[in-house]
Amino acid sequence: MKNILITGGTGYIGSHTCLALLKRGFNLTIIDSNINSSSLSISRVKKILKDEYYDEKIVFFKGDIRDKKFLDEIFLNSIKQNNRIQGVIHFAGLKAVSESLFQPLVYWENNVYGSICLFEIMGKYDCKNIVFSSSASIYKNNSLKPILETSEIKPCTPYGQTKVAIENILEGIFKTSSNSWRIANLRYFNPIGAHESGLIGENPLSTPNNLFPIVCRVADGSICELQIFGNDWPTNDGTPVRDYIHIMDLAEAHCAGLDFLFKNKPQFINLNVGTGIGTSVLELVNKFMEVNNCRIPYKYSQKRLGDLPFVVAENKLITSILEWRPKRNIEQMCRDGWQWQKNNPNGF
Ligand SMILES: NC(=O)c1ccc[n+]([C@@H]2O[C@H](COP(=O)([O-])OP(=O)(O)OC[C@H]3O[C@@H](n4cnc5c(N)ncnc54)[C@H](O)[C@@H]3O)[C@@H](O)[C@H]2O)c1
Repeated sequence: MKNILITGGTGYIGSHTCLALLKRGFNLTIIDSNINSSSLSISRVKKILKDEYYDEKIVFFKGDIRDKKFLDEIFLNSIKQNNRIQGVIHFAGLKAVSESLFQPLVYWENNVYGSICLFEIMGKYDCKNIVFSSSASIYKNNSLKPILETSEIKPCTPYGQTKVAIENILEGIFKTSSNSWRIANLRYFNPIGAHESGLIGENPLSTPNNLFPIVCRVADGSICELQIFGNDWPTNDGTPVRDYIHIMDLAEAHCAGLDFLFKNKPQFINLNVGTGIGTSVLELVNKFMEVNNCRIPYKYSQKRLGDLPFVVAENKLITSILEWRPKRNIEQMCRDGWQWQKNNPNGF
């Protein structure tokens, strides 16, 4: 079976994707610096799979993708062991949008330089298949319409700019290598929730700044109140609308993306990964309370600079070309996410 390198594989999306890939039979080589994660997520993934058979299918290396020597050794060893890395899913990166506003250089250095190191070593070892974790934050989107892959690209934060830069680097590699690479940029919308076992989930090592982890912490009492930024947005109830996608649906999109790349001719493709369904902050909070029978006290506060009223994917392209469609609804996202938080209030 093919060996896939997962950078950032112990993180939130990475760990769920490792689970989905193992179920499909892939061998995995995982790299993570653990700057925002714990390698315990791998033992939890194995626990979910409940079979020693999987132990031999995963190797983990703690290290940084900016260390080319480290990457080189991993690729070389995979060849020596007759388990050559044939594809990469590249999650490793810093992702706190607001932090990137204050520390842009840290984001450029980690995300962009780290990616350059990775692509260079992939090229050296003739590994030319990659799924890259891009983001909906690259779009300009000031309208109330679903976003297409061809919509205007104009990120308003250094975080989003690093994602565009990495996509552009990949496009350059594709064009200058006689189109020999297979590259899929998956532009995620808002992944939330956790695996239904409650054994793996989102585990930010610093204060969370995304809505869903904050809602979970308000539910367990570790944050006393949710702040909703603005209630006069041009949406049905005045709160911002987002396209929330269950983390396992997102994980499965990576499996489908890899399958697609391996089965088709070399190409460079951009795909939105969302449900195409918009949910407002208020709708999400109300659904969370209803499904989990708990209280989420909230108050409205000032809108934040750069926030947008409506960020929802047009997902026709991905659902037409990949063997994938989102299966889980907002109830399941709320239930599974709370299950993880309740069982693991301090993370792993
Ligand atoms: N979670 C989201 O809402 C979201 C949305 C769009 C895109 N993304 C992107 O998806 C990817 C995964 O996100 P996530 O939510 O799982 O975040 P995460 O922080 O849980 O996972 C990222 C992982 O990368 C590791 N990492 C960071 N820099 C590294 C480096 N230089 N070398 C090795 N490892 C490094 C971290 O330790 C972490 O485990 C990120 O690239 C993120 O930008 C996430």
